[in-house]
Amino acid sequence: MDNKINSQQKKSKPQFSPQFYLFWGISVAMTALLLGGFGYYLYQIRLDRIARTQPVQAEASTNDNESNNSNVQSLKASDLVLVEQKITAPDISELKDDDFGKSVKRGKLYVEDTYRQLPKHVGSKLNCTNCHLAGGTTPNAGPWVGIIGEFPQYRSRTGKMDALTDRINDCFERSLNGKPLPASSNEMTDIVTYMTWLSKGYVNKAKLTGRGMPKLVLEREPNLELGQKVFLNKCASCHQANGQGFVGTDGKYTYPPLWGPKSFNIGAGMARLHTAAGFVKHNMPLGMGGSLTDDEAWDVAFYFSQQDRPDFLDKKNDWPKGGRPKDARYQ
Ligand code: HEC
Ligand code: HEC
Repeated sequence: MDNKINSQQKKSKPQFSPQFYLFWGISVAMTALLLGGFGYYLYQIRLDRIARTQPVQAEASTNDNESNNSNVQSLKASDLVLVEQKITAPDISELKDDDFGKSVKRGKLYVEDTYRQLPKHVGSKLNCTNCHLAGGTTPNAGPWVGIIGEFPQYRSRTGKMDALTDRINDCFERSLNGKPLPASSNEMTDIVTYMTWLSKGYVNKAKLTGRGMPKLVLEREPNLELGQKVFLNKCASCHQANGQGFVGTDGKYTYPPLWGPKSFNIGAGMARLHTAAGFVKHNMPLGMGGSLTDDEAWDVAFYFSQQDRPDFLDKKNDWPKGGRPKDARYQ
């Protein structure tokens, strides 16, 4: 008898109230909604990433090593669906007057008025944005938009992983023929903050159209006489026939020096033929980028880049592990 009761109890189904079913029904529906929403969010992020990436552009590569800059980079099939992302700078007027906004504005001042703001660190009469045009926002003129995602980066010239501050100091020591800023100094922090602001909204390692300083390489030897002719016809009106630049009535350099003691030193990227030719082809005469033929850009770049300019004392430490480009000014 006892056994019978037990087995009956086991068989009988538990009784649940209607509220119980309602509770579970709602829970399941909510969970499904949440999961669905999260899935959709992930899908959107992926689309966004794809939209911010584009096929590798050999021309826009910033690698120091020429041999890595072959124009015949083959595209993988998976690259072909990628969409290119253009370089667009944020609007400075939208910056708040908080600590971040103030730091961005100081950083902008340092890179645009470098030799006057940071005289102890600049041996030339150049500003960063004489080359990184329009505050570092011009494609094919070493834009800093998106630069935050590119560092740390292995570079053959130093033979190590470089932080962004190392790279900036390379330009202080070479392009400005000056001295490095301590990585933790207020000035360096402001410059990096400015670049961080320029990079907002760009995904790490996004391939941006016009990133870096493009190279131009022709098969033939450059011609010094033709280069001088191009210089006198198309450059000297601003940079002066002696290449020393031009000081305006406000005492500032209206047109920066291209060679001589006030210009960049022989260790600078701009002292190299391929880099100089690419920069000039895309950006000079100022406001008329693209107007020179490749031949003109090649010869004129040879003419101004090979002129006398300050030595770079640390040159013996460059390319410690090989990979010295053919157009380096020293062996
Ligand atoms: C005389 C021209 C010149 C000046 C002035 C100059 N730079 Fe550069 N900079 C270059 C060139 C050229 C390159 C690229 C070198 C290469 O690709 O071989 C470069 C590269 C860089 C890079 C790395 C860019 C990248 O896409 O990877 C940063 C960051 C940079 N410069 C910051 C600065 C800052 C900050 C200053 C001022 C303190 C400055 N530069 C001044 C010519 C210049
Ligand atoms: C209309 C005036 C003008 C002409 C013409 C001109 N430039 Fe420039 N160039 C400038 C200015 C201004 C800058 C600095 C840009 C800035 O700070 O925004 C500059 C910057 C440069 C720089 C980088 C900074 C430096 O001093 O090294 C080089 C290199 C250069 N020019 C080469 C040339 C060459 C080569 C030609 C002739 C093909 C040429 N420019 C023609 C106005 C001119």
